[in-house]
Amino acid sequence: MKRLLCTLLLLVGCRETVDVAQTKRAGTTFVEPIDATDLDPDPNVVRVALTASALAPGGAYAYAYNATNPGPTLRAKVGDRLIVELTNDLGAPTTIHWHGVAVPFEMDGVTWMRGPVAPGATFTYQFDLPTAGTFWYHPHFDTERQVEGGLYGALIVEDPAEPAPDRELVLIVDAVDELAPGQRAHGHGKLVTRWRVNGVETPTLTLAGGTAVRARVINASNVGILALRYPGLSQIGSDQGLLPSRRTTPRLKIGPGDRVDVEIAIGMEDVVLEADAYSLNGGDAWGDPTTLMRIEVMNPTAPPAPIAWPFPGGAVTPDPGYADIVYAFAGSDRSRDWMINGERFPNVTIETIPLGGAAIVDVTNLSPSEHPFHVHGLTFEVLAVNGVAPEMRTVEDTIMLAIRDRVRLRIDGDNPGDWMTHCHILPHAEEGMMTVLRVE
Ligand code: C2O
Ligand code: CU
Repeated sequence: MKRLLCTLLLLVGCRETVDVAQTKRAGTTFVEPIDATDLDPDPNVVRVALTASALAPGGAYAYAYNATNPGPTLRAKVGDRLIVELTNDLGAPTTIHWHGVAVPFEMDGVTWMRGPVAPGATFTYQFDLPTAGTFWYHPHFDTERQVEGGLYGALIVEDPAEPAPDRELVLIVDAVDELAPGQRAHGHGKLVTRWRVNGVETPTLTLAGGTAVRARVINASNVGILALRYPGLSQIGSDQGLLPSRRTTPRLKIGPGDRVDVEIAIGMEDVVLEADAYSLNGGDAWGDPTTLMRIEVMNPTAPPAPIAWPFPGGAVTPDPGYADIVYAFAGSDRSRDWMINGERFPNVTIETIPLGGAAIVDVTNLSPSEHPFHVHGLTFEVLAVNGVAPEMRTVEDTIMLAIRDRVRLRIDGDNPGDWMTHCHILPHAEEGMMTVLRVE
């Protein structure tokens, strides 16, 4: 009957009507992770309960915090104390690592100082939140499987001095099917073309014209490098809060573990967030970009003026030229041998930064794969990438190294502990690309 109707109406555009309907149906409604409930009446304390559990088999994810993927968003303001009561119903040991937050060492979620939380047990993490920014939390035990299983969530630390946008979005992106059963899914030449945003592929969100959006983007992939683009891409923040000033760029490369804050001005037209096809082999993206998500405009109007963020400014520290610590990343996908300075974790040399001092750290990628370099508990200023100083002061905890890249970092020894330092491609980390940086 429908076909007959179409045949009859072909000349007056039935086909077009059908196509539009299909386009709308192709995507799903955008969902945001729910905010965790603050159980503490003290305005400077955020106390939340998280239960890690295994979900019924057969779904896209095997595990969840509080039965949702991604886990609930933990929201606090800078200076607050965060208390997280973790109940482990996974049936396997687990921990939580607070990626990007300078926590006391015993709260870091690594297992060489404090063992993992046993099945059925509870553990209370508590620490202060010294820096505003977009952070995330995930296990650091059987990490590759537990993170791919869906154990992750956003930790947003707000600065009351920053203006509230019309709309804030938390976008946790994760490449689809990175760890198929019995298979290594991170073949190095494999282009990542399918992504979930907050657990959903190519979702659609409707916003009114004139809306100024702050989107906090977190790459929770095991392996997938997100090459993000949308018209007028405007980056306002990075791993450790607002950048010194606004940065416009045609494309942002966001590696696993990395975060960026971008501003999106909704005006007359729909905004499509796209990802260029990209692989661990690096190089320029090729092929058509894929749609990450769509923002459809309701009541189109002139786009809003850029938000007046209190950008902190600040100059790039000059590169002094020497190095206190040198890390060379090497390895190969064929041998599954990933090393830092020829060593595979846990058989590694521990480098030390004096407490209260700093170290110039030189990291070179000698392998035929890209790697996001990540340091726990500490942050670094980027002094140079391949001999060139960055266009603005950049403070990070995770930085992408393309093949043959050499980055020069200044790491402040402001937090005592034995800090895990590793590639955030989770299979690389598990296959040895981890070391320990000691501050004492
Ligand atoms: Cu996301 Cu060892 O960290
Ligand atoms: Cu790596």
